[in-house]
Amino acid sequence: MKLLVTGAAGFIGSSFARLSVGLGHDVTVLDALTYAGNLANLDALKAAKNYRFIKGDIRDGKLAEEILTSTKPDALVNFAAESHVDRSILDASPFISTNVGGTQVLLDALRRARTKTRFLQVSTDEVYGSADDKKPFTEQHYLKPSSPYAASKTAADLLVLAWHHTFKLDALVTRCSNNYGPYQFPEKLIPLFTTNLFEGKKVPVYGDGMQIRDWIHCDDHSRGVLAALEKGASGQVYNLGGGNGVPNLQITRMLLKLTGRGDEFIQYVQDRPGHDRVYLINHEKATRELGWKPIVNFELGLADTVTWYRENKAWWEEVKSGAYRDYYQKQYGNR
Ligand code: NAD
Ligand code: DAU
Repeated sequence: MKLLVTGAAGFIGSSFARLSVGLGHDVTVLDALTYAGNLANLDALKAAKNYRFIKGDIRDGKLAEEILTSTKPDALVNFAAESHVDRSILDASPFISTNVGGTQVLLDALRRARTKTRFLQVSTDEVYGSADDKKPFTEQHYLKPSSPYAASKTAADLLVLAWHHTFKLDALVTRCSNNYGPYQFPEKLIPLFTTNLFEGKKVPVYGDGMQIRDWIHCDDHSRGVLAALEKGASGQVYNLGGGNGVPNLQITRMLLKLTGRGDEFIQYVQDRPGHDRVYLINHEKATRELGWKPIVNFELGLADTVTWYRENKAWWEEVKSGAYRDYYQKQYGNR
């Protein structure tokens, strides 16, 4: 397939780009390189003939239309987003602008371009709110997003389904649970705690640490997105999840063990406002209709991830210090 992938200089998009290029798909990445975008995440693809990078914003409809009409991709996969819940609580504006506005701009650019391009929106389990009854969410569950981030992703997810319904756009949505793996920005739980522990710093556990998240390796998520692109039905939603509902404190203790640190490194801090207690995902529809299921064992995947951060200290030190922001300049100059 010829793919246009937005947001692939980030964590999951770069996993998806590496997987797709490796499988021989032709991949064009469009990414604005916000604070979360890092070209080093795509280093492995630099020499590949079936990969190219375009620095650009998904809110630029003219650029999106130009890329679509010139490359005529089989599919556009939209990973681009502001992705961190805590940042959305501090300032919701970029979340509404990119996640909602940017998605609408891409959808309209597709309509104008009139190419036969399938649109896949990478959405999230956060659209369902908190599963306080501990029943895993199915695709039929009502939508009740809690944070500004989750609300912006819900709006985007519904825009995609509305464009399918109204304009007959070939479009579908995947809703995935919490990802972990290499190249995740160290503001999220697992890379923040792992790198803090390497640095001999404490880890800030919000509230009582008993919030549950359903963890999935980013490569399993990427395989699910590819399966949905290839086998998913237009207008449908597919849940993707790891089947690993684990309380944050349990993950924290696993990370303490993997880094050789003790309980004295735990620091309980004030809870996140509006913090969802439980996310759990039922992915039976994706298994049944797409033939997909997660294959990475959580304990092994987490151990491998900690090893990756141990062996790639330069990557996360550059991210934590901000030095990675010069990377584009070094690679491409003033383009
Ligand atoms: P990330 O923050 O690591 O990466 C986001 C990428 O999008 C960055 O490369 C950034 O430069 C780019 N971007 C941001 N705004 C842009 C804009 N206006 N134009 C072009 N590019 C822009 O995010 P992630 O964790 O890899 O998440 C990727 C997608 O998957 C997001 O849509 C997110 O909502 C969704 N998702 C994430 C998870 C998770 O656990 N991280 C789970 C389910 C769904
Ligand atoms: O569920 C999918 C979502 O998972 C994605 O849509 C989001 O893009 C992604 O960021 C993630 O959201 P979370 O808020 O669940 O992830 P985060 O890593 O920020 O937090 C995971 C849990 O850990 C959550 O309960 C909050 C808690 N936490 C997080 C941080 C950063 C802490 O206790 N301390 C922390 O310092």
